[in-house]
Amino acid sequence: MRAVDWLLHEDEFNPSALGKCEAVMCLGNGYLGLRSATEERYIGERRGLFVAGTFNRFHESEVCELPNAADFLEMDIFLNDEKFNLQSGTVKSYSRTLNLSTGELCRKVEWVSPIGRGYTLDFFRVVSLCDLHTIAQKVCITPLDGNAELSLSTGINGQITNSGSQHFSEGAKRLYEKKYMQLVQTTVESNIDFVITTHCNFYGGEAESHIHMDRRKIFSVYTAAINKGECLTIEKITTVHTSRDKACENLGTEALQAHGLANLKKQSVGYDKLLVDSAAAWKAILWDNVPVTVESENPRDATALRFAQYHLQIMAPAHDPRMNIGAKGLSGEGYKGHTFWDTEVFALPYYIFTQPKTARSLEEYRYNSLPGAREKANLGGFKGAQFPWESAWLDDGEVTPLWGAADIVTGLPIPILTGQIEIHITCDVCYGIWQYYMATGDEDFMEKYGYEVIFETATFWESRLEEGDDGLLHINHVIGPDEYKDGIDDDAFTNYFARWNLYLAMEYYDKLSGTALLEKLKERLTLDRSGWQSKAEHVYVPAPREDGVIPQNSTFLILKDIDLSKYKAQKQVGSIYKDYNHDQIGQMQVCKQADVLLLLLLMEAAFTPEVKRANWNYYEPRTLHDSSLSLSTHCILAGDMGDYAEAYSLFERACNIDMGPNLNSSNDGIHAGSIGGIWQCAVLGFGGLRLVGDKIRIEPKLPESWRRLEFYAFLKGQKVRIEITKDKINLENTTRTGEVKLEINGIEHVLTDMLNIDNYSQPI
Ligand code: BGC
Repeated sequence: MRAVDWLLHEDEFNPSALGKCEAVMCLGNGYLGLRSATEERYIGERRGLFVAGTFNRFHESEVCELPNAADFLEMDIFLNDEKFNLQSGTVKSYSRTLNLSTGELCRKVEWVSPIGRGYTLDFFRVVSLCDLHTIAQKVCITPLDGNAELSLSTGINGQITNSGSQHFSEGAKRLYEKKYMQLVQTTVESNIDFVITTHCNFYGGEAESHIHMDRRKIFSVYTAAINKGECLTIEKITTVHTSRDKACENLGTEALQAHGLANLKKQSVGYDKLLVDSAAAWKAILWDNVPVTVESENPRDATALRFAQYHLQIMAPAHDPRMNIGAKGLSGEGYKGHTFWDTEVFALPYYIFTQPKTARSLEEYRYNSLPGAREKANLGGFKGAQFPWESAWLDDGEVTPLWGAADIVTGLPIPILTGQIEIHITCDVCYGIWQYYMATGDEDFMEKYGYEVIFETATFWESRLEEGDDGLLHINHVIGPDEYKDGIDDDAFTNYFARWNLYLAMEYYDKLSGTALLEKLKERLTLDRSGWQSKAEHVYVPAPREDGVIPQNSTFLILKDIDLSKYKAQKQVGSIYKDYNHDQIGQMQVCKQADVLLLLLLMEAAFTPEVKRANWNYYEPRTLHDSSLSLSTHCILAGDMGDYAEAYSLFERACNIDMGPNLNSSNDGIHAGSIGGIWQCAVLGFGGLRLVGDKIRIEPKLPESWRRLEFYAFLKGQKVRIEITKDKINLENTTRTGEVKLEINGIEHVLTDMLNIDNYSQPI
C-alpha cells in the first residue's frame, strides 16, 4: 500500500491483502463503520458493517459483541454471461484509492474476461458524514470490444456472521414501489431492530429488474444492454437505521421501516451530490478546522497524520453518549467492538484538544456506565465504582471474554484474566476525565458527571487496598499495563494512579466543600473524605531504586533475563509465543508494552529526568511492543530525553502498524489506540504540547526531518493555532474571547491574540 499526499493506494489486486485494505480503507462516520470489501466476493474477505452501540450476545457461553450487519455492497456482475472476478481473465490495470480528504473510495479496473473481451469498471463509494445513515455506491461499466449484456445482482444479504455467530433472526423482507428493497433483522438477544433499505438507479441505459428473496436475503437482478465504448452507470443508495438510534428508539419496527424508506427517498439525490456534501462536511469538521500540517523530508509523515485524523473521525460515536470507541473502531470484529482504556489514555487526548464535544460525550459514556461499574465493585466485595476492563452497552458490565489464543505447552486456550484483575482501567477513566477538565475547564461536565466518577472511583480504591505486614497499603493480584505478567502485586502503574485518584478526590471534595452540589452528592453517595485520606497516605508506591529504576511490580526485577534480540527484531507481533507459553513469559523480564515508561509519561512532573533515563535504559530493551499501544509512548519519551532520531524511528514504526507493509496486522480492524498514538507522537511529542498538572506546556522537539508543524488545539475554550519551526513558535488565539495561560520552554505566557517566539532552542 502506498500513502501519498491525501491518498492511500493499492496498485495491484492482491488477494492476500483483502483484510488489510478492508480495514485500513474502511469508511464510516462514527455511527457506522463499513469495511471496504470489494463488490465481487473473494475467499479470504471479511465483509463488515458495524453500527456503534448495537451489542448482542449470541449465546450465554459468549460475551456480547458488535454484530456484523447485513451486507449491501455485494454486486454479482455478469458481462455477456462471464462473471466479473479479478481472479479470472486478465487484469490490465488496477487501482484502489481511499481519499482521506473526502472519504471516498474508488477502484478502477481494466479487465479482460477469460474469453478475451475487455471492459473498464470503475467503482466509487462514500459513507455520508452529513446523514449518518446513508451510504452511496456508484459503478461505471464500459465494454471496450463490443456491445455487452449486463446482468447485475445486488440487494441486501443478511447471511453475514461474526466468524460464524449469527446475531440476527431471519427478519422481514420487503419490496416497496417495485424498487426499494428492505431487510429487517433483529438481534437475537438484545432485540435491536436493524432496518436496511436500498435501491439502484441506472444512467446511460435502461435496466429491467427482477426481485428475489432468499434466506436472510433480498436482491434484484438487473439486466441491461451496453453499447461498445459507452458507459452504463449504476448508483445504489442505502440507508441503515436501528432501534438503538436515539431518534428511533420508541418507534416500533413498522415505523422504523417507514422511517428507513422515507430517509432513503430523501437521500436519493444522486451519488455525486451525496459525495460533494459529505466532502464538505469533512472539510468543515476536520481539514479546514483542526488540521495537522507536517512539512517533513518524508512526505508520508503528513499522510500518516491525515490517516490518523480520518480514522479518529470515523471511529468515534460522537452522536451518542451511551456509546464509546472500540479497540478496533468500527472497522472489524476484533475485540468485539469493546471499549478499553485505549479510549482514555490513547485516543481521548486527540478529542480533548480538537473536538472537545466528542471528548465530553466519550466521558459521559463512562458516567452513564456507573451503574455497571458499581455492580462490578460490589460483586468483588468492594465499594464505589470499578470500571469493566472491557465494556460494551451501558448495563452490560464486564464483557471481557474468558478464553483466548492457544497455549503451545498445554494445548488449551489461554485463560484471559484481564476482566478480573486488570483494574487500572478504573484510574485511567478518572485520569481521562481529569485531563478533559484541565484542558477545557468544563465545569458543567464536572458538576453533572465528572466529580461523581472521581469520588466513586476513589471509594473503590479505598476499599481495594490491602494492609501488608509492613503496615502499608498494597494492591495485590493484578495485571498492569504489561499484560505479560498476571496476578502480580504492587504494580507501579496501578499503585501510583490509585493513590493519585484518592488525592484527586480529596482535592475536589475540599474544593466543593460548602456547595449545594456536594451536599446533593452526599445524599446519594458515601463520601468518606477522611477514609480516602488515611488510605492515600499509606499507599505503597514503588520508589525508584538507587540506580533510578522503578520496579514494575514486586517481583519483576528478580525474574530471569533472556536474550530478546530475536523478538525485538520480529516482523509479526507476539512471536515470543511461538517459543514460550504465557506462564513461562510471566517468569521473564519481558514486557508486552510500555508500562513503567507510560507511568513516567502520564505523571511526568513526579519524576526527574534521571529517573526517566534510568527506566528508559532498563525497560526499553525489555519491551517487545507486542501491543500496538506501546510505540507512541516510547516515541514521546525518547523525544523528551532529546533522542530525536530514536523518537522519529518509533513514530514511523507506530505509523506502520496499520499503514505499513504487514498484510495481516489489520485484518481484524485498525488499531484505534495506536492511531490516537500517531497524533500524540506529533502533537504531544514533537509539538511538545502537554498538560502537566493543571498547566499547559509547550516544549517542541521536532525531529531532524521535520521543518514545520502546525496544529490547532482547544485550550480552555479558545481555539489556538500552534505553528512550530526549528527556530520559531507562533501561537494564535483564533477565538479571542478569553486568554490562555501557558508555559513555553519554561517561561510563563498569557495568550490573548498572538504570540511569536523567535530563536528558541529545542531541549537536548
Ligand atoms: C493490550 C491492551 C489493550 C488491548 C486493546 C491488548 O493487546 O495489551 O493494553 O487495551 O489490546 O487494544
